[in-house]
Amino acid sequence: MILSPSILSADFGNLQSEIEMLNKSNADWIHVDVMDGVFVPNISFGFPVLKFVNKIAKKEIDVHLMIDNPDSYIKQFSEAGASILTVHYESCTHLHRTIQDIKNNGMKTGLALNPHTPVSFLENIIADINMVLIMSVNPGFAAQKFIPNTYNKIEELKKLIESKQSKTLIQVDGGVNLDNAKMLIEKGADSLVAGNAIFNTPNPTETIKKFKNITA
Ligand code: DX5
Ligand code: ZN
Repeated sequence: MILSPSILSADFGNLQSEIEMLNKSNADWIHVDVMDGVFVPNISFGFPVLKFVNKIAKKEIDVHLMIDNPDSYIKQFSEAGASILTVHYESCTHLHRTIQDIKNNGMKTGLALNPHTPVSFLENIIADINMVLIMSVNPGFAAQKFIPNTYNKIEELKKLIESKQSKTLIQVDGGVNLDNAKMLIEKGADSLVAGNAIFNTPNPTETIKKFKNITA
């Protein structure tokens, strides 16, 4: 399982040491949540923070865009250090073009689905994307309650990926913790994002180790 701790719950007064902690830990990627206050009712951070994270990080940076009109910023995210760029299905009118643009800028492609968006909408795009991010909360905030219908969506997505003989990864984001991680992996999640359940524990490095020891 690819573990991607979300720095939305990190201590921003000590961001450098938080990233260094992740560098030394068993975490695989670093999840960076960008919010614009339009697509979601919250504002997080943008390029200066991402560039700083990229300077310190020794792991791949997994950027989750919760913004309107992501097309305007694709090149800038590539230059700022994103290795995987995930856009929301709900914010892209010409999704196929957006996905090609992410690829052409040298990044891996991710596509996020809000809790209400059906997996079946991906039928004609799934073969073009490296990863689908299933939102297990409504995007915008850390530490929200996990939505159980996520389990059904993972199963459905797994079937769709297999039917297309695609290698697309399944990532789950929102309310993920040490209690639901095993079930998520059993249902078919390849990657888990966790913020609150890592950074708000007494020993995040140990918590990361516990996540990484969970198997199906
Ligand atoms: C929510 C973000 C998540 C968030 C997860 O909109 O996309 O990545 O940081 O936080 P937790 O794990 O605390 O639910
Ligand atoms: Zn996220």
